[in-house]
Amino acid sequence: MNVELSEDQIMIRDAVRDFARSAVQPRAAEIDRSGEFPADLVKQAASLDLLGIVIPEQYGGTGLDHVSFALFIEEIAAVSGALAVILDVHTSVGSEPILDWGTDEQKARWLPRMASGELLGAFALTEPDSGSDAASLQTAAERRGSEYVLNGTKTFITNMGEAGLYIVMARTGGPGARGISAFVVENGTEGLRFGSPMHKMGLNGSPTGEVIFEDVVVPAKHMLGPEGSGFKVAMKALDSGRIGISAQAVGLGRGALDLAVAYAQERVQFGRPIAQFEGLQFMIADMATAVDAARLMTWQAAAACDRGEDFTHLAAMAKLFSTDTAMWVTIDAVQIFGGYGYIKEFPVERFMRDAKATQIYEGTNQIQRIVIARELLRGD
Ligand code: CAA
Repeated sequence: MNVELSEDQIMIRDAVRDFARSAVQPRAAEIDRSGEFPADLVKQAASLDLLGIVIPEQYGGTGLDHVSFALFIEEIAAVSGALAVILDVHTSVGSEPILDWGTDEQKARWLPRMASGELLGAFALTEPDSGSDAASLQTAAERRGSEYVLNGTKTFITNMGEAGLYIVMARTGGPGARGISAFVVENGTEGLRFGSPMHKMGLNGSPTGEVIFEDVVVPAKHMLGPEGSGFKVAMKALDSGRIGISAQAVGLGRGALDLAVAYAQERVQFGRPIAQFEGLQFMIADMATAVDAARLMTWQAAAACDRGEDFTHLAAMAKLFSTDTAMWVTIDAVQIFGGYGYIKEFPVERFMRDAKATQIYEGTNQIQRIVIARELLRGD
């Protein structure tokens, strides 16, 4: 197996790394402090053609593969977890359902504006009483002639209010997974409202909150895929979405590790840099090993996706391993900083707070284990 990146992949990684270090890194702490949506950075990312990275060229994107997508998200997350999740949700679960299920007309209507950054994408599956048990969702879509009328509340929606369109899963039929359909709902549609942004532990600047539907009229031609296939639309989107979250976690782990390595060489105690103590060297070695393993698992899932193979379990394994890794690696990075790691003047605690979300969203790590075990035990 070849684990070398292609010239194109190296080019995109280096271009994103330049953008991340020159434009995003200097702003990351302030975005976390203020919690303000970094609209200017999203615009800059769009001007670098990063918002259409997996959208085909015929729809205005760059048509790159999922390995490139993973490289893109890792580089952004290595400096800002918040910007990484904004761009990740737009690129994966916010756009891919249109790519995978959209008709030519639907693709032509939305993808060029998503690739240019005019429309940011969001994914509305979770509800107050339906999180891990996604098939129990209650938001209703009632057919009236050539339209559907949506009523209900979605919650924990990334890019809430800032997104120009929402991929919305709603109930058109009976109970369970087969009664769900997927719709594209444009921001500005009458009856579509947003809650206040939630005050989160981390990822501040990435707006999260409720999306409320009160008699929202959506043309039937805005349904994605056949009626009743909305759960599959969501699950397929989450398969590739989990590659993005895995890459985000790799970036967070790497970012915290880099900070810890630099600090350990500067911080002098007992007359020498603390990096010279074997206890710390062992910590750093374990952190670096796990981050590298997480990256390889992410690339493995992305490459399988690009080859058109079944990658559901690979994405779930990568997401599980990378996000657990990001959590303990960022905790250990804080430990290496000692007391300075615990105060907000130093950037490392932000990585630890940001990492926690990755173990929860796009399927908790308990759900990932269910997905992995089911795929392995299916017996085909
Ligand atoms: N691809 C295609 N189809 C799939 C699929 C997949 N990966 N997984 C399941 N399906 C199909 C099944 O084949 C089945 O189809 P049939 O009815 O034709 O047999 C149907 O979907 C129902 O599947 P299950 O019986 O497996 O469904 P379930 O109710 O047992 O639930 C689950 C499965 C894996 C637990 C699922 O509910 C799940 O993934 N839950 C977690 C939800 C989640 O990840 N939420 C994240 C919210 S989005 C977010 O966080 C984004 C953000 O803002 C950052």
